[in-house]
Amino acid sequence: MNILILGGGGREHALAWAVRQNPKCDRLIVAPGNAGIAAIAECAAIDPLSRAEVLELAQENAVDLVIVGPEAPLAAGVSDALRDAGFLVFGPSQAAAQLEASKTFTKEVCDACGAPTAAWARFTEAGPARDYVTAQGAPIVVKADGLAAGKGVTVAETVQQAHQAIDQIFSGEFGDTSVVIEEFMAGEEASFFVLCDGSDCLPIGTAQDHKRVGDGDTGPNTGGMGAYSPAPVMDETIQAQVMDRIVQPSMAEMARRGTPFQGVLFVGLMIADGQARLVEYNVRFGDPECQVLMMRLGAQAMDLIHACAEGRLKDMTVNWADDHALTVVLAARGYPDDYQKGSQINGLDNLPEDSFNMVFHAGTVEKDGKILANGGRVLAATGRGATLPEAHQRAYALADAIDWPEGFCRRDIGWRALPKA
Ligand code: AMP
Ligand code: GLY
Repeated sequence: MNILILGGGGREHALAWAVRQNPKCDRLIVAPGNAGIAAIAECAAIDPLSRAEVLELAQENAVDLVIVGPEAPLAAGVSDALRDAGFLVFGPSQAAAQLEASKTFTKEVCDACGAPTAAWARFTEAGPARDYVTAQGAPIVVKADGLAAGKGVTVAETVQQAHQAIDQIFSGEFGDTSVVIEEFMAGEEASFFVLCDGSDCLPIGTAQDHKRVGDGDTGPNTGGMGAYSPAPVMDETIQAQVMDRIVQPSMAEMARRGTPFQGVLFVGLMIADGQARLVEYNVRFGDPECQVLMMRLGAQAMDLIHACAEGRLKDMTVNWADDHALTVVLAARGYPDDYQKGSQINGLDNLPEDSFNMVFHAGTVEKDGKILANGGRVLAATGRGATLPEAHQRAYALADAIDWPEGFCRRDIGWRALPKA
């Protein structure tokens, strides 16, 4: 098969790495890709948000399956354009991608199907939103309604903070004209990844990430500084509960609305007292969660993704190994605020690259034979092992072998789960 992956981050490198291992993959094209991906696939310098450019690329290369990595092309309707032109696509339609693109949409789906989630209210003006927060008290959560690259959420510890967040949203920074205010949920967060083909659902793994930039979960939020899989809190009982009460009802509601969801559902959960509630849905793999999931699934990931795109999930099972994976993100100093691009990364050449050790590239370019940093999150040093401590040891051994003075990583990825391992 000729396979096209859209995107160019660590998530897409991990997807490409898994797909490449599957003998069914003949040609692998990644658009736009990055320096790490270029070592295992053809990279095409097109804009993955442009329907015309993506269609042309798929047509010219007789692509058999398109795997959409990030949310932006999905929200922009690129998957619809490809399907309309007859291509097989892994990733939801623009209408179904609203599960990530609109907080209000997701809350309405939850209300319609009875999925447990935080109580909520939506406002289109700052005044009533502020009054509501004053009446509810803190802690309370303020969210820009649309896609805000993870930056539109404030978990406010005081009413004053919540008021500021509301004012900021209505100042237009996120291009939003509405705000969702949610009840604060206490508990332990975990993520659950479920392939859905419009009628059937197949869980493919659990993970926990580390959103704050600094050790001890301090500092500003980021896209994710590290992750591990499985998440101990997501035991079989909780997984079954989440499938029964949250995922299956939500997918049935999507189908009932005439917008069935096909792709990977990233289920963000808050777990307390043995009960899980939905925090949010994303309509794509997490980054860096995908790195640990792909490391664990290996080549079968492509068969599962292919079956999902073709609506054959009911015939599929996952071959689970009793393993663990952990990934450590190396980011440019200053991230998630201002950071420099272009610093040189050394020490990548002689690192092991196998089913236990992989450095996935997130934001790199190659120039004159040198690998340069080209983003905030730049590399994801990923280890797999029979135990979490083994995966942890491998991931940090990789991270420590990389010579990049302009970069940094958190030293405590896995802190919550390691003592239980
Ligand atoms: P979201 O973009 O909706 O995932 O929110 C980003 C982060 O904010 C989540 O991963 C949680 O840590 C936190 N969060 C969002 N909603 C809530 C809530 N209702 N209660 C507690 N924490 C929340
Ligand atoms: N790591 C969180 C995300 O991909 O949204």
